[in-house]
Amino acid sequence: MIIAVDGPAASGKGTIARALARHYGLPHLDTGLLYRAVAANVARLDLDGSIEADAIAACDFDDALLDDPILRSDAIGSLASVISAHPLVRASLLQRQRRFANQPGGAVLDGRDIGTVIAPEADAKLFIRATPNIRAKRRHAELRAAGSTISIDRVLADIRARDLRDSTRSTAPLVPAKDSALLDTSFLSIEASVQRAIAIVEARREMTR
Ligand code: CDP
Ligand code: CDP
Repeated sequence: MIIAVDGPAASGKGTIARALARHYGLPHLDTGLLYRAVAANVARLDLDGSIEADAIAACDFDDALLDDPILRSDAIGSLASVISAHPLVRASLLQRQRRFANQPGGAVLDGRDIGTVIAPEADAKLFIRATPNIRAKRRHAELRAAGSTISIDRVLADIRARDLRDSTRSTAPLVPAKDSALLDTSFLSIEASVQRAIAIVEARREMTR
């Protein structure tokens, strides 16, 4: 069973994807981390992420980087959104994600283009949403807890800029797959969001049985 979970920043997709993976005993891949790793490499090598050749030069990263807390910063999230608009960057990360999705037994992946590009054949597709203000509040709390002094206004501005860039790029934009189920977590607790997500997956499984 392949489960695709897409949505904008801090919508709750990672939390939901991890909970689904636990519930169904499947491996999970946070694909945003791959783009964040390329972005961190761009910064480390002092390259210009808006130039495709520079971003490509940073695509070959060490997997140990995926565990580096630097990847969680707001600045790296924004830079990831810049480098991820380059078609060759997306192409360089495609096979790794497809292989993960198609491993025996299945997998849960979360990102922006899982249901549309990485695993269009997924058995269940969820598109997670929440209002920009609520997402900014959630992300701000996380960044603060990690020691950042960033303001909530800045987090909201960055989230809006990222939403716009991610949803208007020409390659693999952030759009719900036609056959995805929409789940708005704005006014749902984590527990309630996860229960809804499981109910959606169960309904999809029933349909294909
Ligand atoms: O956790 P959050 O939603 O804030 O971000 P993320 O999932 O770590 O993704 C960071 C950036 O990587 C996004 O803003 C996208 O531009 C890009 N990304 C993408 O283009 N495609 C994916 N499948 C995952 C992330
Ligand atoms: O992966 P994505 O960036 O979409 O979001 P996340 O990392 O799953 O969630 C962002 C923050 O919102 C986390 O601190 C979650 O605990 C929190 N969250 C929440 O407060 N209520 C929900 N219904 C879902 C997530």
